[in-house]
Amino acid sequence: MSRERKILELKEKQELARMGGGKKSIDRQHERGKLTARERVNLLLDENSFEELDMFRISERTDREVEDKRYYGDGIITGYGSIHGRLVFVYSFDFTVYGGSLSQVVAEKVVKVQQMSAKVGAPIIGINDSGGARIQEGVDSLAGYTNIFLNNVLYSGVVPQISAVVGPAAGGAVYSPALTDFIFMVRKTSFMFLTGPKIVKAVTHEDVTADELGGADVHAVKSGITHFTFDDEPSLFEGIRKLIKYLPQNNMEEPLVVSTEDPPDRVEPDLNYLVPENPNKPYDMREVVLKILDDGEFLEVQELYAPNIIIGFGDLNGRAVGIVANQPKVLAGVLDSNASGKAARFIRFCDCFNIPIVTFEDVPGFMPGTVQEYNGIIKHGAKMLYAYAEATVPKITVITRKGYGGAFCVMNSKHLRGDISYAWPSAEIAVMGPEGASEIIFSKEIRDAADPEKKLQEKIQEYRERFANPYVAAGKGIVDEVIEPKVTRYKLIKALEMLKNKRDENPVRKHGNIPL
Ligand code: HXC
Repeated sequence: MSRERKILELKEKQELARMGGGKKSIDRQHERGKLTARERVNLLLDENSFEELDMFRISERTDREVEDKRYYGDGIITGYGSIHGRLVFVYSFDFTVYGGSLSQVVAEKVVKVQQMSAKVGAPIIGINDSGGARIQEGVDSLAGYTNIFLNNVLYSGVVPQISAVVGPAAGGAVYSPALTDFIFMVRKTSFMFLTGPKIVKAVTHEDVTADELGGADVHAVKSGITHFTFDDEPSLFEGIRKLIKYLPQNNMEEPLVVSTEDPPDRVEPDLNYLVPENPNKPYDMREVVLKILDDGEFLEVQELYAPNIIIGFGDLNGRAVGIVANQPKVLAGVLDSNASGKAARFIRFCDCFNIPIVTFEDVPGFMPGTVQEYNGIIKHGAKMLYAYAEATVPKITVITRKGYGGAFCVMNSKHLRGDISYAWPSAEIAVMGPEGASEIIFSKEIRDAADPEKKLQEKIQEYRERFANPYVAAGKGIVDEVIEPKVTRYKLIKALEMLKNKRDENPVRKHGNIPL
């Protein structure tokens, strides 16, 4: 064969590979309202940056069943490219080939890029649109899945791992995303469930649609499985690009320092008036966060799940920080099981990847009651405590109002190795709120009073003045400084600068045993 013919042959094969399961299948994919695996990779990565690997891998099966159904690539596209000029690895399931189901070849291709991403220290992004294990390949497919899961676990905390779910993820296909750091879903076309509606009907007699069982909104609001939800695929991929900006390439690196026009000493006078004078009135902690971060930009994570706590990323003077903040607007900012678990995982992510944590605290306590106790709030609250305690990244707290009881201890207190603790003058730091405390410690005096209700109110006021302020804690060094709210941004930036080279360690051990 001539050289020209050989080049031509290569081009023909490349073209064949690019067509995946063929034109008809591609059209059907579009009719389903979904993009193809390649269109997705192109939206995710910087223009023309994709370098494909294993384009010509093909099933080695020789049985008649697959004779004319062997496709180059075998149902997945893998390779590397860049996002904002920084290296990332990517794999994208091709639904046009056997419904993106996972064969031995597909699994080997994923494993190859997983191992490379860990070897060179770069994030890996999986784009999932798959019917699960390739039924025709039986146990080879199960073994393939398990190899992927193993790598998800081994590289957890080594390189950031991100999953887009942009189609079905059923059965085995859910566990790899679940093991990664962040899941992105799209409304209407993506579903995640262990068993589909038909099996649910057969086993539990429940009538449920795929969307009701495992659609994006279900996982955003109810289960907390997904971290980001979008209306269409292009916005989803733009979302991943935004998230990547805040992350370092791996656990040995710091996040990038970006240039900013936002002055570090920007004063926000409104913050002095944001906390209502009545301590039982809510306000929006999101406003506090937005006024303090660079350019008011905040990438909220799990916005719709357990909204009594806010988590997410932003920059302070060009450096990425993870924000954890009680939200007094929802359930008075109380800590319940879901909020504790949500915050704990986020704190651990930040700690894995050298992202300092800034905590805004206004917490009346843990949620009381049988629902929470039966649900194991003791164990879930302990997760958050554990996560803060073990984190060695810079940890700063701003107490805007309430810091009561066990919840005060948990929310990055100095005794959990919090580095700097600021309090606003509106802070109330004590074992419990004035109402509950007065009823207990002055119960006899109140009972014996001519007007018990008046006495109670007097005692509440007395308690508030004596204990529910920041100065008792500041007098003991439990709070480092009481600050005017309007200068909080500047104070945080100065403290982060001071903590830039912080080194802290945990005892040598195989690993801790977080209460799961
Ligand atoms: C082989 C599959 C497949 C699979 C789909 N296809 N899933 N081929 N193995 N698992 C093929 C279909 O035969 C069809 O081929 C093409 O992909 C498109 O599928 P459709 O059904 O036409 O598409 P759609 O209507 O969009 O439905 C998609 C779907 C459905 C919801 C994913 O196909 C489905 O329910 N598939 C099975 C899901 C499942 O039960 N998977 C196994 C889970 S067990 P043609 O040639 O007609 O185009 C599992 C265990 C692993 O994963 C555990 C590891 C720990």
